Amino acid sequence: MLRKLLLITLLISVPHLVLNAQDSSDDSARKDRIRRGKQLVNEGRCNDCHTPLVETKDGLIPDSKRTLSGHPSDSEIPEIPAVELNSQEWLEFVSSLDSTVWAGQWGLSFSTNLTPDPESGIGKWNEEIFIEIMRSGRHVNLKRGIKPPMPWKDYAKLSDEDLGSIFAYLETLQPIGNAVQKPIPLP
Ligand code: HEC
Repeated sequence: MLRKLLLITLLISVPHLVLNAQDSSDDSARKDRIRRGKQLVNEGRCNDCHTPLVETKDGLIPDSKRTLSGHPSDSEIPEIPAVELNSQEWLEFVSSLDSTVWAGQWGLSFSTNLTPDPESGIGKWNEEIFIEIMRSGRHVNLKRGIKPPMPWKDYAKLSDEDLGSIFAYLETLQPIGNAVQKPIPLP
């Protein structure tokens, strides 16, 4: 009787133990991926362009309340200056803009919202969609090329695993509703 009981307990508990072990190893693999994704986002300097700045007593710093949420939809759209393209003045204009809006021969481009907000961010994407965008340099829904200065060609060299880790990290960000302005071509 005792042996039978033991056997039953074993039969019940062994798969349970195995499942638990599986769960926690999945969990730690996921944590590792997120950590790796965060490291790649820092090394890839995504925040330089996708996080707006905020004025503090120490000057302008990346706004931690709006991490990676892109060009703020409530900020003013700068005028495209009437200067000759490729001139020094033009280059100065490019570098004087807020880090989330850029100007060049392509017109004005605005860094996008990379937080998991379903309407204005990446909330409805999955890992495959993200990898496809980063590799092809095309917006999946808009069927158009991603404008400069987004350095997608550099990121396209990353492995599927690394790009997937970036996506896993982005999914853990605070979702921020911010519908970013579409690029504006030169007049
Ligand atoms: C030098 C500035 C810059 C850097 C650095 C940068 N981006 Fe971008 N990114 C942009 C701009 C500007 C756009 C919008 C271009 C457009 O509208 O066509 C963009 C667009 C994107 C898009 C396309 C979004 C969509 O709606 O299809 C993704 C995804 C993206 N960036 C991810 C990243 C990631 C991840 C990193 C870091 C590994 C990164 N970016 C670093 C400037 C940058």
